[in-house]
Amino acid sequence: LCAFAAPADAQTYPTRSITMIVPFAAGGPTDVISRIVTGHMAQTLGQSIIIENVVGAGGTTATTRAARAANDGYTLITGHMGTHAASVPLYPKLAYHPEKDFEPIALLAGTPILILARKDFPPKDLKEFVAYVKANAEKVNAAHAGVGSVSHVSCELLHSILDIKPVGVPFNGTGPAMNALVAGQVDYMCDQIVNAVPQINAGTIKAYAIATPERNPSLPNVPTTAEAGLPKFQAQAWNAMFAPKGTSPAILASLNAAANKALDDETVKKRLLELGSVIPGPAERTPEALATLVKNEIAKWTPVLKPAT
Ligand code: MLT
Repeated sequence: LCAFAAPADAQTYPTRSITMIVPFAAGGPTDVISRIVTGHMAQTLGQSIIIENVVGAGGTTATTRAARAANDGYTLITGHMGTHAASVPLYPKLAYHPEKDFEPIALLAGTPILILARKDFPPKDLKEFVAYVKANAEKVNAAHAGVGSVSHVSCELLHSILDIKPVGVPFNGTGPAMNALVAGQVDYMCDQIVNAVPQINAGTIKAYAIATPERNPSLPNVPTTAEAGLPKFQAQAWNAMFAPKGTSPAILASLNAAANKALDDETVKKRLLELGSVIPGPAERTPEALATLVKNEIAKWTPVLKPAT
């Protein structure tokens, strides 16, 4: 009988609070999505989930810490397209491997990328933006959340399409980068939608285009890159939850179930949609689907980013 009994830890898990590492500063997309989803998961699991913002090196400092944490279900991480894919080609000495050192739990959200600028940046629309940054590539600067972050990688893609190399200004997350954009201290940014919707609606920054095939319901007046004249620039990031390798299957299953329940909750859904996120369908929320996504994203970004290093 004992051979079939679940381990004691899995039967009682969780018995204390869980730490969710967020690899960027508070107020940015990773932080906001993590707080919305874990707020609901904590109710399901009956324990609090404490967000710990650990910043640095485009999210790789925190992700290294998560990879080395005890695999007991009490330290998890919200990773993304940067920490769990783009970092592989960009950091030859990366201290973790997204596939070998983590157990995928669930995809939480898709996050379309926008081209944003400070309110008084001269170009009025995307065509003017393209002409302006090409003509002034030595003078303009692009804020980002560190090498390998989504904002960095997305603007690298944009810059490779435009064949320019402007100066990048790194921050510990696009929360602080957005503050600098609003204050007019940096020129532009390629950021995930979650960070941008409240600022665009408040008129504190400009949005030139959204890099997805369709407009986003949260920003109906922002044209797509195709509509605005730059169809080649297509970019959507994602956020997902991971545990250190070797975490027990029963614990992973209860975390996946809690994440699924959160994403099905009407209040959680409403908040994520208001911020422009794309909520993954049930088939995309399994650990297997996330493992495949990570594998495919590493394969996709490696040839794109390798020549830039
Ligand atoms: C990024 O650019 O990778 C993110 O926007 C980081 C963040 O959540 O601040």
